[in-house]
Amino acid sequence: MKLIIFGPPGAGKGTLAQELQSRLGVPHLDMGGLLREEIERGSEVGKLVSFYISQGKLAPDEEVFEVLRQRLGQAEGYILDGFPRTTAQAEMLERVSPPDIVLNLVVPEEVIVKRLTARRLCRNCGAIYNLVSLPPAREGVCDRCGGELYQREDDRPEIVRERLRVYREQTEPVLQYYRKKGVVREVEGAESKEETLNRALKLLGL
Ligand code: AP5
Ligand code: MG
Repeated sequence: MKLIIFGPPGAGKGTLAQELQSRLGVPHLDMGGLLREEIERGSEVGKLVSFYISQGKLAPDEEVFEVLRQRLGQAEGYILDGFPRTTAQAEMLERVSPPDIVLNLVVPEEVIVKRLTARRLCRNCGAIYNLVSLPPAREGVCDRCGGELYQREDDRPEIVRERLRVYREQTEPVLQYYRKKGVVREVEGAESKEETLNRALKLLGL
């Protein structure tokens, strides 16, 4: 299955994709995560995209797609999270490996802002927590692997506002592209990750 999880920053794309990955056995490709890996490795692409990410802006289409293309490889299926974010990116993907379904995760903006300031991530395995809705059993420690939890630099309130603005302006129009192809399914994000997963599985007929 080729699946895109679409939605604004903090909608829960990564959380849902991690759950679906273990259910479907299809690799989860987290575009933001792949770019942050490039930054940590200090690669040329990493150096280029680091400024955009820290400011909450979109990195350039060509560079982002090149990073993704290497990971897409010969994969028969994918769960894509954070790509495409522009219509140009959607067209690039269309030429290489078009999606079967685009799940649009709908969550109100006031919920998003609260979620992002309380988000924590595992430095080691990437598991996603929330101090309010999904807290770890031990403060600052990953339940899954014991790794250290940290806060993303772009989760500062002023950068979150910019990411939301960029989403509305540049990314939301991509939905129209996929609506014309008839592949969009709407899923309303629930208060818990289990309920959101159940809604998504139902929509996928699983
Ligand atoms: P990226 O890392 O993709 O960030 P994003 O789209 O802003 O989305 P987030 O990862 O912040 O949120 P999410 O929807 O995954 O939510 P999560 O599951 O963590 O991209 C970062 C940057 O990289 C971009 O700003 C850009 O600069 C660059 N970039 C990336 N892709 C690009 C592209 N294609 N082109 C150009 N530039 C690109 O959940 C959020 C919180 O809510 C967590 O705390 C979680 O525990 C909690 N939560 C989740 N679900 C639930 C639930 N159902 N109930 C209660 N709490 C929940
Ligand atoms: Mg994410």
